[in-house]
Amino acid sequence: MNTIPDLKQTVTKYKFSGLWRLMDGYRWQYLIAIISMGLAAVAGSALYILLGKFVDDVLPAANMRQLLPLVSLGLIGLALTQGAFTFIGGRLAAQTAENIARTLRNYLYDHIQQLSFTYHDQSQTGELLQRTTSDVDTMRRMFAEQAIGIGRISLLFVVNFTALLTLNVRLAFISVIIIPIVLMISLFFFFKIGKAYEAFQEQEAVLSNRLQENLTGVRVVKAFARQAYEIEAFDVENREKWGRGRRLTLMHAFYWPTTDMLCGTQMVAAFFFAGVMAVHGEITAGMYVAYVGLVVQIIWPIRNLGRLVADVSTGFVSFGRVQTVIKEIKEPMVEGTAVTADRLHGAVTFDDVHFAYENEKEHALHGISFTVKPGKKIALMGSTGSGKTSLVNLLPRFYECSNGRITLDGVDLKRYPRAFLREQIGIVMQEPFLFSTSIRNNISYGVNHAVTDEEMFAAAKAAAVHEVILSFPDGYETMVGERGVTLSGGQKQRITLARTILCDPGLLILDDATSAVDTETDEVIRFALEKLMQNRTTFIIAHRIQTVMDADLILMLENGRIIQRGTHKELLTQEGTYRQIYDLQSRIEEELQTELGELIIEN
Ligand code: GTP
Ligand code: MG
Repeated sequence: MNTIPDLKQTVTKYKFSGLWRLMDGYRWQYLIAIISMGLAAVAGSALYILLGKFVDDVLPAANMRQLLPLVSLGLIGLALTQGAFTFIGGRLAAQTAENIARTLRNYLYDHIQQLSFTYHDQSQTGELLQRTTSDVDTMRRMFAEQAIGIGRISLLFVVNFTALLTLNVRLAFISVIIIPIVLMISLFFFFKIGKAYEAFQEQEAVLSNRLQENLTGVRVVKAFARQAYEIEAFDVENREKWGRGRRLTLMHAFYWPTTDMLCGTQMVAAFFFAGVMAVHGEITAGMYVAYVGLVVQIIWPIRNLGRLVADVSTGFVSFGRVQTVIKEIKEPMVEGTAVTADRLHGAVTFDDVHFAYENEKEHALHGISFTVKPGKKIALMGSTGSGKTSLVNLLPRFYECSNGRITLDGVDLKRYPRAFLREQIGIVMQEPFLFSTSIRNNISYGVNHAVTDEEMFAAAKAAAVHEVILSFPDGYETMVGERGVTLSGGQKQRITLARTILCDPGLLILDDATSAVDTETDEVIRFALEKLMQNRTTFIIAHRIQTVMDADLILMLENGRIIQRGTHKELLTQEGTYRQIYDLQSRIEEELQTELGELIIEN
């Protein structure tokens, strides 16, 4: 794997210095590209000067026939040199730009993955997608086309203007009167286009967010028959993007004819003036020929220069957008002073822990305190939104508690490197997520080493999903998601369970891991997990009494507070929510049994 350089240093106050740092390692290539372009320019100018000499000195000469092949050879040679250097320069520049873009994309991807849960809670996927793709591409274009173009044209100008000066000083200055005006206009457009492009990109982000969300939620849209509403809403955003895009094109549309007219006028005036000078014998016919060529070589590039300068603004805007992502602080993964053992024992204490999500006034957890001995099973119950997920998410340090202290094996959680915690703590998340790859790859996702079939099957069996997988035609090679089968909610849950089991974590968290599974399968899983949970601290979040009744400690949560705690037996002796749930669930069970009994008797 390529090592990814740290591009944090490209976040600077001035964009120029940031871009300069971004070119770290590529500057030589880039310089050679510009020099090649310059050499091509020299060859081009020499071509016209030689042509002038040809008209003035060769054509009238007595030995014209002998000189002709030599001059032709010279002209062809110069044309070839110009082409070759243009090719080399263009290729090098494009290559450099591609490399910079690739590095930047890799860096951004890596960086985004290392940002905190809090950042991802608050940022939109479509927006991040756009910054890693479209914005990086705009920057690539800036390096490949605009920056190199500006370098090339500046060299072209210096070379050709010097050549013009050698022809005739007065003419040389007359031919470039327009340039400062064109540059001023370009600078004006630089700011205008920059602003318009920023607005355009912002709107594009809104649109890609909308698209991304609607495609992800397309089933909901269809289920509620809200297509018309969604199309309307999409059209509104799309129209806005169209409008902003049109403003941008209009600016270009104004810019081009204005500069074209100015440049055209300049050329005609220059040709006319030089023509008059030629008629008056101030310059020779050959000089006139050379002059015309050189003026064309200066004026058209200057017209392009204006456009390039104006377009650089889009690269700057995109760079700014990329910088805002780079600026975000990464979650430190390996920082921490705790001496990390090979394996956690799994003693957990919460000591008066409070926690609030970013930008939320209301705390999600209030004064949570409890102790778990290694290898014990602890169950969390409570109504929806009571804080169960928030509580367990503190353990792998997805979020940091705001007050109080959590210790793991007697050491403050904050002293453990996050990488260690996430390696040691296996979590089956409430919302199962599978990647669009084979079931095998999904199950072995969490482990770095090669996995044998036996290990894989054992994990799948513990999650009661082995048989299900074998029932698919491709077995473990079955593709999941967009490119393959669509799994049921319960199947997905069990595959994510197998994925976590395979990691053999020191501490296991099951966040509602069997909520989408029928009671019977739940029992099978529970039985299979029984062995796995031995000597391994396990947090179980569940709603069924059967799932939690054998836990060593049950915590009942309500509005972020522990309202009841104890073992199943202890809690049954208390008046309270646990008893109520128990009564309710066993009453249903009883009723079912009775009904079932009646049915059997009837038949
Ligand atoms: P269920 O999974 O539905 O059984 O609920 P839970 O007990 O797991 O609740 P959870 O811990 O997810 O939520 C507790 C409170 O925190 C609720 O009021 C949520 O609205 C809030 N909450 C959960 N996740 C986030 C989050 O990412 N950001 C913010 N701001 N609030 C959150
Ligand atoms: Mg939850």
